Amino acid sequence: MQAVLDYLKQNQPRFVAELCEYLRFASVSAQPQHKKDLLACAEWLVAHCQNIGLDARVCATAGHPIVVAKTKRAKNSTKPHYMVYGHYDVQPPEPLELWTTPPFEPRLEGRNLFARGSTDNKGQNFAHLKAVEAYLKTGTPLPCDLTFVIEGEEEVGSKNLSVFLKENRSELACAAVVVSDTGMPDLAHPALTYALRGIIAFEITLHGPARDLHSGIFGGAVDNPAMALAQLLAKVRDARGFIDIPGFYEDVDAPSDYERAENRRFPITDAQLKKLLGVPELFGEHGFTPTEQRSARPTFEINGLTSGYQGEGSKTIVPAWARAKITCRLVPNQKPAHIRKIVCDWLKENCPPTVRLEITAGHGAEAYLVSPRSAPAQAALRALKTAFNCRPILMREGGSIPIVNEFKQILGADSLLLGLGLPDDNAHSPNEKFNLDCFEKGQRMSAHLWQELTR
Ligand code: BES
Ligand code: MN
Repeated sequence: MQAVLDYLKQNQPRFVAELCEYLRFASVSAQPQHKKDLLACAEWLVAHCQNIGLDARVCATAGHPIVVAKTKRAKNSTKPHYMVYGHYDVQPPEPLELWTTPPFEPRLEGRNLFARGSTDNKGQNFAHLKAVEAYLKTGTPLPCDLTFVIEGEEEVGSKNLSVFLKENRSELACAAVVVSDTGMPDLAHPALTYALRGIIAFEITLHGPARDLHSGIFGGAVDNPAMALAQLLAKVRDARGFIDIPGFYEDVDAPSDYERAENRRFPITDAQLKKLLGVPELFGEHGFTPTEQRSARPTFEINGLTSGYQGEGSKTIVPAWARAKITCRLVPNQKPAHIRKIVCDWLKENCPPTVRLEITAGHGAEAYLVSPRSAPAQAALRALKTAFNCRPILMREGGSIPIVNEFKQILGADSLLLGLGLPDDNAHSPNEKFNLDCFEKGQRMSAHLWQELTR
């Protein structure tokens, strides 16, 4: 084991240079013009895995390819098998003008490596690859068999990975899935995440006049779809921050005393959070802490709002339509299909007759919750403690990784969520970065993890 740790220590500069290569691919899964960049990124990753000493292949799908890389197996291996999951696709980098330097030209400033996809998720999955490299290159026997599954569609819903899991059930069957695609509060508080929120996505469009109208000639005699949409959406939330849709909270469980106690160890104060996020005041459901509000409580969010003239100067029109992109984050026990139905029914009931409502359904996923007391979870906590030299915390996270539910349903495996991101990493925002201490300690955590899981 010492050889592994020494290898990691000695090779950090090269690892960072390699991570920069990985980050140069504009693997934006949402944008069709980047299809080739995703394929090139997958091929680079496969070649890299082969150089490390893994058996790796690109698996084509109906969408972006999946990279599968495995440690070489002894015939009839009886070693336990673990899967490491990650994604090489990234969120769109726009708005580009807010980046200090271009998103796909990695830039190192102190210990921070800036690039789209650095923390979400290339840097995090690369940490695990480097840990395995250290085992393989030092000839240190791994106590388990490993399969890396690194997909290219996480940021757009993982539809084809789910098909792939079903088709490769027996090859991928494993004792647990290790996922580093979440966060930790700071370097002194490495974290095991035991819950994620679920999600439903949809778009609502209010159609008004058959075409944009002159607002002087006709305005006043027809409803304005943008105004109608604003009024409809404004009714969704009350002044105390609660969603006013009957039934929305029906299946929501209150946090337990145990969770509230663990939450109190969370080291970020409300004042720090307010500063980090640049808001004049925090806002959320009365009676819940910000930690609870953003992880254990459901939400209704407007992600995008569009209508009328968006160019320079003014244009006097009544727009023909107005549209909102919406997602609701869900918590354990809330069923996505049910919440989708009550929300859509409520919107229909509350839409005025002066506009026509159209709803387009998007993706959906259940929340995730797993016991932090299981043997694999305890092993993960020990690995975190050794690597970061601090007592780890247990937390819930507000983001979603829909595929973890399918790991459970299809492969029967729980996921260990061992995030290496920091709150100021700017995931999904301009100037995304990854901290190199997280990178290095993450590699050490991964190296220890395989020992702890098989102890
Ligand atoms: N890595 C995130 C998920 C995440 C981030 C979980 C931080 C917990 C803490 C992932 O890449 C992501 O952004 N997922 C999407 C899923 C959606 C597109 C279905 C999300 O949460 O918005
Ligand atoms: Mn993401």
